[in-house]
Amino acid sequence: MITIAIDGPAASGKGTLSRRIAEEYGFHHLDTGLTYRATAKALLDAGLSLDDEAVAETMAREVELGGLDRSVLSAHAIGEAASKIAVMPAVRRALVEAQRGFSRKEPGTVLDGRDIGTVVCPDAAVKLYVTASPEVRAKRRYDEIIAGGGTADYGAIFEDVKKRDERDMGRADSPLKPAEDAHLLDTSEMGIEAAFQAAKTLIDAALKEKI
Ligand code: DC
Repeated sequence: MITIAIDGPAASGKGTLSRRIAEEYGFHHLDTGLTYRATAKALLDAGLSLDDEAVAETMAREVELGGLDRSVLSAHAIGEAASKIAVMPAVRRALVEAQRGFSRKEPGTVLDGRDIGTVVCPDAAVKLYVTASPEVRAKRRYDEIIAGGGTADYGAIFEDVKKRDERDMGRADSPLKPAEDAHLLDTSEMGIEAAFQAAKTLIDAALKEKI
């Protein structure tokens, strides 16, 4: 069983990259951000507070990894709420337990998130830390919304990206940071294809070393 851990900030391109990698190697993929989003959505839908750790933990324990739907969970408000409940240690313990269970699937898995290489799967065969400048990440978000026929304000998105970084990197429990043995991949000046090729080179080299 082989685990590939992919971490990075919001809109760094790690999700798209992780899906490509999972497809390439025939591995199962889990976007762990969706587990935090599903917990937040369950609280929002039930009209419950986002400040009650015990209630949030109960919701986290009910999340079904098989039923995570990106299209339903991608809403901006859900992402904001997810980032708030993600600071709660009890919520993190519950979701990390489920994520570790997933990581043991054969023949291998790709997990992406913020703390995969540092906390969830510290023994992962390969760890990537995917970044891009806040300006580039905000522009990608902006282009995505425009391409989908929506309207967007670049300045507001940029502020949002920075706020989310502060919350994800500044929290006490499992903050976003590269694992000491992670390979850094800055995609600021790379398209998805170039990022994928760079990741594949790193992964193939790391897997060869393991054999
Ligand atoms: O990647 P995303 O935007 O779907 O993640 C939503 C929030 O969930 C993010 O702001 C922080 C949190 N998260 C986390 O704390 N740990 C993870 N492994 C994945 C996401």
